[in-house]
Parts: sequence; structure tokens; C-alpha cells
Amino acid sequence: MPGNRAVVYEGPGRVAVHEIDYPTYELKDGPGVNKANIGRQARHGVVLKTIASNICGSDQHMVRGRTTAPEGLVLGHEITGEVVEAGPDVEFVKVGDVCSVPFNIACGRCRNCKEGKTGICLNVNPDRPGSAYGYVDMGGWIGGQAEYVLVPYADWNLLRFPDRDQALEKILDLTMLSDIFPTGYHGCVSAGVTTGSTVYVAGAGPVGLAAATSAHLLGAAVVIVGDLNEERLAQARSFGCETINVADGDPTDQVRQLLGHDAPAIGEPLVDAAVDAVGFEARGHGQNAQTEMPATVLNSLMTITRAGGAIGVPGLYVTDDPGGVDEAAKEGSLSLRLGLGWAKSHSFVTGQCPVMRYNRNLMMAILHDKVQIAKNVNATPISLDQAPQGYQEFDKGAARKYVLDPHGVVGKRAA
Ligand SMILES: NC(=O)c1ccc[n+]([C@@H]2O[C@H](COP(=O)([O-])OP(=O)(O)OC[C@H]3O[C@@H](n4cnc5c(N)ncnc54)[C@H](O)[C@@H]3O)[C@@H](O)[C@H]2O)c1
Ligand SMILES: [Zn+2]
Ligand SMILES: [Zn+2]
Repeated sequence: MPGNRAVVYEGPGRVAVHEIDYPTYELKDGPGVNKANIGRQARHGVVLKTIASNICGSDQHMVRGRTTAPEGLVLGHEITGEVVEAGPDVEFVKVGDVCSVPFNIACGRCRNCKEGKTGICLNVNPDRPGSAYGYVDMGGWIGGQAEYVLVPYADWNLLRFPDRDQALEKILDLTMLSDIFPTGYHGCVSAGVTTGSTVYVAGAGPVGLAAATSAHLLGAAVVIVGDLNEERLAQARSFGCETINVADGDPTDQVRQLLGHDAPAIGEPLVDAAVDAVGFEARGHGQNAQTEMPATVLNSLMTITRAGGAIGVPGLYVTDDPGGVDEAAKEGSLSLRLGLGWAKSHSFVTGQCPVMRYNRNLMMAILHDKVQIAKNVNATPISLDQAPQGYQEFDKGAARKYVLDPHGVVGKRAA
């Protein structure tokens, strides 16, 4: 049996590569493992040799100490890999298959899974609906920023790539199917983006850039991306987005100028659709740009979006935030101007993206060269040992999506 090495959260601001156990078909006790999940059998699972596993803004919330993640948690929910072993109850997935793993763990048997709501599966996490690999409050499934990882309910969860060589050729794009590409796409779909839409995406991190890419793919007429990080805004401009720097002032005025609405009447449409790709660590706008103001993005999106429009909220909001700006924020309560959203009949879609709803079609768009997601998010392969540095640079706002490459497969292809 080979060894296994993985990226582990050591406490606020610190991750390191540790030796961990090679996966087995049974959940064992460990940091973050829900007691009710200890001893749980996963004969329906496979062991994947990780080909690519990406660092995500969702990981950063934990690593910044902004969640109740326990020290010792093995990180990583964006996994692509090769099946090297299949449990006795696996019927269709085969050893040698190269697959994308949706970051949501889902059973395929519960009421929500049957409705396609795989982000809130009822059977995989004793704490609450919904689960993910290597994440706080998500049941304790071991993360995949590792050489090897267990994928439960493998026949249901895995998306198999049709051709191994073709998959390896496009692996930097395909690795975005485990999370950010479907997540950005879901943000747009749930905001009603379609041919000719005007769209505002708050946040130019990888999820925002994936949402902007998706808006173009869906045929949007104008895609405006806002952030306060100039390097990331330049990345958005590199594929045809308009950009605004929210440190320069309220995005509403800037969006209005870009769209040429000089003196709009109250309620005049600004954009048709908006996506929050920022989440609860949002900064304020203008002179508040250095201050954390967790409700800023949601409130500004209600101002910016036309009456009758919709707002997609992939940006993460938590129920417990030890670093929250005040007592209310510490338990996830934000000061939302909901009256405005109500007056404009807005709808909001929040929560984990149900990856499985989109990953197959987005895979086809990648394989047939309809979209350049890796280029748009500036996918950057690094080794497992470089993970701590990757986390640090990403935290400082590098305009990159770091792709961990534990077996040196991606780097070889990208070279
Ligand atoms: N719903 C899901 O399924 C899902 C999946 C993946 C990620 N997420 C969440 O999506 C969010 C974005 O992820 P990411 O990897 O791109 O993170 P990220 O931290 O790299 O990007 C967030 C960006 O928002 C910018 N920002 C801060 N305040 C802003 C403001 N007021 N207006 C505009 N931009 C502002 C930051 O400068 C940063 O560039 C995170 O909260 C992450 O947890 C959710
Ligand atoms: Zn992610
Ligand atoms: Zn389920």
C-alpha cells in the first residue's frame, strides 16, 4: 500500500504537508470527523489517485481562522483523479477511469439528491444537510489536497471523462469542473443570465472570473466585474469583461456610467442580473474599502439589479464566524436592506452549487473548445510541497487559481 501525503490546516494562517493514512472504505476518527460518522462504511467508494486538487477561496475562510475548522483538518474539496481501487459495491466506475469529483458529497438516495439538490444531501453529514471533502462542519470526509483520497458513492458522484488522453491534455481546464466553473455558472443561471443580458459580477477571484466566463458562455451582452484588486480586474479584462474598482466608489454609479444611464429614474434597470462572488469577508466600497462590511455586496447588488431581476449568491455566508466584525456577524446575522429587494421583487439563490447539475455539459464545452476556463482564471499548477506558499500568495490576492499537482502529471502536460 502506498503512503499518502496531504495539506493540513495547522491553525490560523498555517497549512503544512503531513503524512496521513492511505484511504480505506471506513471513516475513522480524526480532526473534524463527526462522531456519528466514525466507523461508517463506504463500500460504495473508490480510491482516487489525485491528478489535480485546487486551492479555493472557501479553503481560505478556514485558513484565515474565520470558521470553527479544527486544527489537523485535511483540506481539499476540488478533486480530479484516476481511480486506482474500487470498493466491493461499486458497479460501473472502473480502475483506470479519469474522473472529476463534484465537491458536494451526495448519496444519490435521499429526497434532495432525487430532486437534483446534491449540495444539500440529507444522508452524508450528521451536522446539517450538505457535505464536502475536507471542510468544517461537513461530516468529516477527508480532503483531497492529497496524493490519494476516498470518494464515497462513487457511481453516483463521479463524472468520468470519455477519453483518458484527451482528458490529460485538457486537465487544467477540466479540473475547474469540481467546483468553480459549475459554481460560477450556477451563479449566472440562478441570476437569470441569458442572451443579451447585462450582468454585474462582484468579486474577481476565481469564482467571480468563472461566473464572468459563464456569463459570456450564456450570451450576455455586457459583463461587468467589480473588485478592489487591480491585478484580478486586469485578468477579467483579458477575456472581454468591463471592470470597476470598488475602492474608487460605489459600484452603482460606476455601473451606471458604463452602461450609459445618465440620469436614471428610480427603479430604472441597471443590470439584468448580478452575482455575489465575494461572500461574508466582503470589504466596503469607496473610502470603506479597507474595512470589512459583510453585507455590502448583497446590499449593493439589490441596488444595482433591475426590478424583477435575480441575484445569484455563490459567495459563502457562514453560521459561525469567530472573526466576525460584531456579535451579530459572529453568528452570521447581517444587516440586509431586504425591504429594497422586496420592493424590486428580487429573487436570491444561495448555497452550495449542485455541481452535478452542470458538470457534464460544461465538460463538453471544454472538450469542444467552446470555453477557456483555465486561461480565464489563470490556472497555475504547483507541487503539493508548494501548497503553503500557494495558500499565502492566494491569500494576498494573486490573480491565479492554484492547482496542486501531487504526482507531477499536470505540470508535465502544461510544460
Ligand atoms: N456556493 C458555492 O458552492 C461556492 C463554491 C466555491 C466558492 N464559494 C465561495 O465563493 C466566494 C469566492 O471564492 P473565490 O475563490 O473567488 O475567493 P477569493 O477570496 O479569491 O475572491 C473574493 C474576491 O472578492 C473581492 N472583494 C472583496 N470585497 C469586495 C466587494 N465589496 N466588491 C467586489 N469584490 C470584493 C476580493 O478582493 C477578492 O478578490 C468565497 O466566499 C467562496 O467561499 C462558494
Ligand atoms: Zn472550492
Ligand atoms: Zn442524498
